[in-house]
Amino acid sequence: MTKKFLGIFLVIAMALFGLTACAGGNSEGNDAGDSGLTDPPPLTTDAEILIAYFSCTKNTEGVAKSIQEQTEGTLYEIVPAVAYTTADLAYNNSDCRANREQNDASARPEISGSVENIEQYDVVFIGYPIWWGQAPKIIYTFLESYDFSGKTIIPFCTSGSSSMGTSATNLHTSAPGAIWKSGARISGSNVSSLIAQIN
Ligand SMILES: Cc1cc2nc3c(=O)[nH]c(=O)nc-3n(C[C@H](O)[C@H](O)[C@H](O)COP(=O)(O)O)c2cc1C
Repeated sequence: MTKKFLGIFLVIAMALFGLTACAGGNSEGNDAGDSGLTDPPPLTTDAEILIAYFSCTKNTEGVAKSIQEQTEGTLYEIVPAVAYTTADLAYNNSDCRANREQNDASARPEISGSVENIEQYDVVFIGYPIWWGQAPKIIYTFLESYDFSGKTIIPFCTSGSSSMGTSATNLHTSAPGAIWKSGARISGSNVSSLIAQIN
């Protein structure tokens, strides 16, 4: 191959690679239609921010960490007093722990530890995986453990494919005095649609 043809070949290869890489980075997207290609808007708030999340297999944790990086808020993991084992999460088994809890309106799995000085926070992001279309019952435990009156709550979730659906609105009665934002299901690491809800 001559140098000229080698040069053209390299340019085409790089262009194709670049397109593929962009498509890959953008494939996860999210419900809010974020492209993943734009810079997040500047954060214009003096609010004290808490990012509380529950995550068994680290998907929601990844999103929570992205929010923390962009807001410099405080990260808090909702840790169950009794950890969920793989068998507990085996949703194909109708009798697994997660399924039993989701089917029990009164289930409130215990949390280990607590948020220090929750009164200092103005904005609380709450993240969870979708379990059978809803938030895991431990999120209800969390919300019912504190007084969120006057605080802004921004819910977010991850899932295999389900949308946020009614999972967030069904949480409202567990923190009735809060200012609830719509939140979003996040797939990938672009959290700008959530950050925008702070103001
Ligand atoms: C018990 C159980 C029920 C689930 N139900 C759904 C569901 O209804 N829809 C869905 O898209 N994904 C469902 N998933 C998949 C999780 O929502 C998804 O893997 C999520 O990102 C896990 O988050 P995590 O890694 O933070 O725990 C379910 C997972 C489990 C363990």
